[in-house]
Amino acid sequence: MLTKIFSILLGLFMITSQAKAENKTSPDKPTVIILLGAPGSGKGTQSLELSKILGLPHISTGDLFRENIKLDTDLGKQAKGYLEKGALVPDELVFDILFDRISKSDCAKGYILDGFPRTSAQAHELEDTLRNKANFIIFNLKVSDAEIIRRLSGRLICKKCGRIYQKDTNPPKVAGVCDFCGGELYQRSDDKPEVVKERLRVYYEQTKPLEDFYKQQGMLIDIDAEGAPDTVEKSLEAKVKDLAPQLIKK
Ligand code: AP5
Ligand code: MG
Repeated sequence: MLTKIFSILLGLFMITSQAKAENKTSPDKPTVIILLGAPGSGKGTQSLELSKILGLPHISTGDLFRENIKLDTDLGKQAKGYLEKGALVPDELVFDILFDRISKSDCAKGYILDGFPRTSAQAHELEDTLRNKANFIIFNLKVSDAEIIRRLSGRLICKKCGRIYQKDTNPPKVAGVCDFCGGELYQRSDDKPEVVKERLRVYYEQTKPLEDFYKQQGMLIDIDAEGAPDTVEKSLEAKVKDLAPQLIKK
């Protein structure tokens, strides 16, 4: 009997949760699109596409750290060792860089977050800062570990425009050169197999638990991200169209 009551309650909870994730957004508030997912799940690839379609800025905390490292800023100096090891940068440094970026005027209508939040403290901080002030659409890109390792072992990125390639499945037309801007392509130093292994371990320990955090609030939208980039992009676009039609350009 108790088992039956429990399963009815669980069923009701799941229906309510699903209904909340399907809620429409308010056109009067900025919309924050969050891409959760393991390293190599396609957060950067999909953010670039969504950013073009929706006209919202793409904010990757990883890219912000890499820019600071390249420019040798104080923040870059502090973050460098963490990125090289595949560890997470301490929350306080992440908050400085993220909240400064989202305060810029180009974020007024909303933005796409790639790689943030990544810890429970970051998720709570975001919620406390934006509660009732923004719509949230939270996508969870789901990809198997084997596919992640395959993808990251051949990733190439343009130094100039940030476009992302994959040696085997999405190679540039001319080796080492970006199709779009002619920039030089490079491999990220944290894509070495031993660092990828550590990044995945850290993901399972610190970031994957956020799925439950958002699921319990009925906010998580799982996306099968194992297929081709175009297929994944179509799923994301369809969800945005449904939940935030105001963002889709006519
Ligand atoms: P970050 O730069 O965010 O790295 P990540 O989360 O490990 O994710 P990646 O950028 O490696 O993968 P992605 O999901 O963007 O995949 P991509 O689209 O490139 O963070 C780096 C570091 O910064 C962290 O380790 C940490 O030190 C620090 N950091 C950042 N944010 C932090 C935070 N909030 N808190 C603390 N520390 C933080 O795709 C990967 C490859 O797959 C590409 O080659 C691509 O062409 C290919 N691909 C993509 N989609 C598909 C597809 N559908 N099919 C086939 N191939 C595909
Ligand atoms: Mg990325």
